[in-house]
Amino acid sequence: MRRKLVAGNWKMNGDSAFVSAFSSAIAPNIQALPEGIDVLIAAPTILLPQLCQEFALTRVLVAAQNVSSYASGAYTGETSAEMLSKAGCDACLVGHSERRALFGDTDEVMLSKVRRLLEVEIQPIFCIGETLEQRDLGQASNVVTSQLALLLDNLSSEALGKIAVAYEPVWAIGTGRTASPEQAQAMHERIRDHVRQKDAELAEKMVLLYGGSVNADNSSELFAQPDIDGGLVGGASLQADNFAQICKSIECR
Ligand code: PGA
Repeated sequence: MRRKLVAGNWKMNGDSAFVSAFSSAIAPNIQALPEGIDVLIAAPTILLPQLCQEFALTRVLVAAQNVSSYASGAYTGETSAEMLSKAGCDACLVGHSERRALFGDTDEVMLSKVRRLLEVEIQPIFCIGETLEQRDLGQASNVVTSQLALLLDNLSSEALGKIAVAYEPVWAIGTGRTASPEQAQAMHERIRDHVRQKDAELAEKMVLLYGGSVNADNSSELFAQPDIDGGLVGGASLQADNFAQICKSIECR
């Protein structure tokens, strides 16, 4: 049975007081969840040490939203995978559509980031998803599978087994327009089939998250789909009560 994962993505929001208030509000709710469910918060780099400290005695995992593609050295403004590891991070987002669109993260850069993270045993959460234009042109499946091919073509099954994939249609991110459970399931099934062509065992164990306007009203239906193993939640992860509701809406199958 695959583990379930509900990941919050705070994006560029939050401060020290917010971390303290959020942690105390969420921790008791998360402790009460069934064992097979993981909960994670991806926060801005500067808040990570505090978050790791606040969540140290809880089940909540901590993720970075970005990492340098370089290991160390003269790269002003960058944060290395080793630094994240030493701060206590468990995971890190790679390839979020905002980084692809606004910060020019190319395939080469994303692959290096994934490699740096795997070297220090931080779990990459690799984000893929089509734009509205691509969907309207009937290209959604091809776009998504070719984004995934970056990993499948360049990494071993062993390395791939450590990665979670988040399908986030760009048109659903921050728009309030969620993919329907049927649309999301269809793409997740397509993604899992594509992984199966490389390695059937890997396909069965790979954790596939859905992201894009997930909230407390739509999460249970999305999470009930057979190939959706959890969510990557942006806006709704900034309210502890809402986020706790979303975490509780996932059931262990
Ligand atoms: P959203 O963001 O839930 O606010 O749509 C999701 C994401 O960008 O990860």
